[in-house]
Amino acid sequence: MGLPKISRRTRYVVVIVITLYVLVSVQWNTARVNHDFFNSIGTLLPSTARVDDLNLKKLQPVDASRADDQLMDLRVQLASQFPYDPTLPIPKKVWQTWKTDSSDKSFPRNFFKCQSVWKTLSEAETPHHQYQLITDDQMVPLLKQMYGGVPQVIRAFESLPIPILKADFFRYLILYARGGIYSDMDTFPLRPLSTWPSTSSSFLSSLKNPLKYGNSMESVDTKTPAEPGLVIGIEADPDRSDWAKWYARRIQFCQWTMQSKPGHPLLRELITNITATTLESVADLKSSLPLDDIETTKELADDYNVNMRDKRRFDKHYKHQQKKTAKNIDGTDIMNWTGPGIFSDVVFQYLNNLIQKNDDILMFNENLDVANKGNSDGDSTTKFYKDIVKHLQDVKPSLFWGFFSLITEPILVDDVMVLPITSFSPGVRTMGAKDDNDRMAFVKHIFEGSWKD
Ligand SMILES: *[C@@H]1O[C@H](CO)[C@@H](O)[C@H](O)[C@H]1NC(C)=O
Ligand SMILES: *[C@@H]1O[C@H](CO)[C@@H](O)[C@H](O)[C@H]1NC(C)=O
Repeated sequence: MGLPKISRRTRYVVVIVITLYVLVSVQWNTARVNHDFFNSIGTLLPSTARVDDLNLKKLQPVDASRADDQLMDLRVQLASQFPYDPTLPIPKKVWQTWKTDSSDKSFPRNFFKCQSVWKTLSEAETPHHQYQLITDDQMVPLLKQMYGGVPQVIRAFESLPIPILKADFFRYLILYARGGIYSDMDTFPLRPLSTWPSTSSSFLSSLKNPLKYGNSMESVDTKTPAEPGLVIGIEADPDRSDWAKWYARRIQFCQWTMQSKPGHPLLRELITNITATTLESVADLKSSLPLDDIETTKELADDYNVNMRDKRRFDKHYKHQQKKTAKNIDGTDIMNWTGPGIFSDVVFQYLNNLIQKNDDILMFNENLDVANKGNSDGDSTTKFYKDIVKHLQDVKPSLFWGFFSLITEPILVDDVMVLPITSFSPGVRTMGAKDDNDRMAFVKHIFEGSWKD
């Protein structure tokens, strides 16, 4: 009579209680696991802009002085997870990324053609290049596999507020962890991958005139250089006196196509910069992370704030302290946070650090007519010869942008190879780029990056 009624109600209550218990404990456990994951390794976020006391080339993977206090510099963490071996060859891998797989209906038709050229040329030679398309859904699981030992990098990736920032960051992360070629979906290769100057032994052995930077720009003897560790191309080289009106940087490097060995220290610097910037600039991220020397000056703190980059720093009307969400990001943020802007800045910073801290860095720049002290008419790199030498002989030597301007032959600075604008932008009919059939043309970019829509 009364009994079944009570027991039904009791059963009902018990089921609810159990369900709630399970739900709460699963939630709580996940939160705890996440908390432990991100906090097990105390990470100090260094600023890549202040490297005056570091030799980035000779950075020790494990910094003994800091091993004790459980707080590891992100730069050191990355270096120990992905040790760099410059003697190994560039891995034969090709990486692309897109929202979906090519079997999905939404996969753009143009990209089909592009992808099939990549696939064909990847398999055209023995040994093959291993081709892989990574879809948006696969990114985080793959990053968790690769970067489990550096969880702050995953946290930064996941908190980037818009997809294009993720697409940018991911290419650096995949190359740093695995190496190979990364290229955007709206590109296709124009000739066999083994003909790229980076991996062509006939090209590397043709390099005969190394320059030792420093007081003399004179040639020195050396053997054939090894395969470079990082290969990049020029995106913009506006050789006009009013360039600053139109371009933010006189030389801009492109990051729609790049090639590297795993663990390259330049990528490590870039990843350190983007991680630190992200963790400090994005809204809704509890910033419990210690910054390098951050208590000191306000100027130092600005290193971490993407709203303080370059000219925007001086814009009195800009809300510099406003954290970033998907709604308040614009094109210059993308440029200076993850895109070609920050990429180009880090390239210069890294190369300058190399030549300031080491006196045995070799460079090859066949575009400079060194024997003739740069005397030339016409529009070639040699017209910047005097400024290049002046910068290299400064007390604090640096690479003047003219070193990379108007080049038609690859440049090598230590193990970083810079290809002419023709290599990844043939046929753009501007800034000296030559045609698709030029011998330096390797990848065609059809400029349909439709994530920009
Ligand atoms: C990142 O690099 C930019 C450009 O060089 C620099 O202004 C900024 O301070 C760097 N930030 C960090 C956190 O490394
Ligand atoms: C990005 O960098 C360029 C070049 O320095 C600059 O013109 C632009 O204002 C910067 N954007 C931001 C958000 O700082």
